[in-house]
Amino acid sequence: MLSRQSTRSFSVSMSGTSQGRASAAVAQSKEKSTGKKEKLDLKPPKGTRDFYPEDMRMRNWLFGHWKDVARLHGFEEYDAPVLESEELYIRKAGEEVTQQLYNFEDKGERRVSLRPEMTPSLARMVMARGKSLTLPVKWFSIPQCWRYERMTRGRRREHYQWNMDIWGVPGIEAEAELLSAIVTFFKRVGITSQDVGIKVNSRAVLSEVLTAMGVPADKFAATCVLVDKLEKVKLDDIRGEMQELGLTDEIITKLVATLSIKDLDALEQTLGNGSKALAQLKQLMEYAEAYGFRDWLIFDASVVRGLAYYTGVVFEGFDRKGELRAICGGGRYDELLATFGGEPLPAVGFGFGDAVIAELLKDRNLLPNFDNNKEDKKMKWAFKHAERLGASHLVIIGEDEIAKGIVQVKNLAKGEQVEVEVSKVSDFIAEQLASS
Ligand code: HAM
Repeated sequence: MLSRQSTRSFSVSMSGTSQGRASAAVAQSKEKSTGKKEKLDLKPPKGTRDFYPEDMRMRNWLFGHWKDVARLHGFEEYDAPVLESEELYIRKAGEEVTQQLYNFEDKGERRVSLRPEMTPSLARMVMARGKSLTLPVKWFSIPQCWRYERMTRGRRREHYQWNMDIWGVPGIEAEAELLSAIVTFFKRVGITSQDVGIKVNSRAVLSEVLTAMGVPADKFAATCVLVDKLEKVKLDDIRGEMQELGLTDEIITKLVATLSIKDLDALEQTLGNGSKALAQLKQLMEYAEAYGFRDWLIFDASVVRGLAYYTGVVFEGFDRKGELRAICGGGRYDELLATFGGEPLPAVGFGFGDAVIAELLKDRNLLPNFDNNKEDKKMKWAFKHAERLGASHLVIIGEDEIAKGIVQVKNLAKGEQVEVEVSKVSDFIAEQLASS
């Protein structure tokens, strides 16, 4: 039953919001004075979504692919509370995410926050288990995250974010495995490397340049956070902040020149062939070649990402038409546990939101039909999708087939469709493939 009587209210203060919204108590007194019930606002809070059954079908379809891909790569699922202690997110590098917290004081006067991202919770969990964890840890999760964002296409105040993280692997093979998972997901839903690319860089590139120019290590994270802003603002808008960090005009000029590098040969000229950052990036490209997803990757020295804790390779998925915000992003964060007072432990991972990918799939007409009443359209989509994937066979299971314990197998090259017993499907298809 829907009840408008909110039993108790508590005040919520969020950075960046105007205070003093009409409270439930004020609404109630209005009601009394006019004697009329005001109609309930039927929209969910700004930037949040309701999920009706058809929306849940879409969400479960997407999460199903994410979970399958994660398990295929040997990752185990974990979860954490959506409400965390605020201090988990207090970082001093000026990141946007820490200014967008849904934070407040609870009834026990504790400062708490809805999580804006999963990585700090994961770090807390890994740290709590400490040495009893068997490394490497390969875990995934699909948390709902909350950020008080300015709303744009694909950016909301809550979103679900597929996370995959690997702890305890210092080598670049961990990055390669994560990128493989991302590409595997894209391919499964029909997205190609013509639709989407993944920009790759390493923060070690900037770190080497800045260290050589005498910038102290403790200014590095804040410099990266500022550099990330250059995607949206002009250099002159943040020059003052850079100077406050101690970056001279000479350093800023060198920094900007480095950011414009778009190929590894040019990077070699800047860093020299003894550079560790360069060696890592070359190795990553070799792994990508061996995995078969090299065509998805683009080296781009301007990608540093906006979170303070990244220390090494960083990457970001983008639509090649340039119409949408970042599709996913991640990187290496070997020092995060140390910032929480623990022993450092190598870690790398990514977050992949549900909002931008939904826009992209809609734009490319790649979403299945989630309306239960239109079977025909659903079937047409299944045939089109199988064709797009270059599948040899399509297996069709409906209610009649389930009742009979069979499936329909369509050979897409020959256009022939036959009934096959469920237990014999794989042998049947294998035979057909062998004889074709
Ligand atoms: P992030 O770049 O802040 O990274 O977010 C990762 C992804 O989450 C974005 O690329 C986007 O798909 C989605 N996302 C973020 N904010 C919003 C929003 N307001 N609305 C819709 N989607 C959004 C992180 O959060 C890191 N913790 C990821 C990570 C995990 N790094 C290592 N492990």
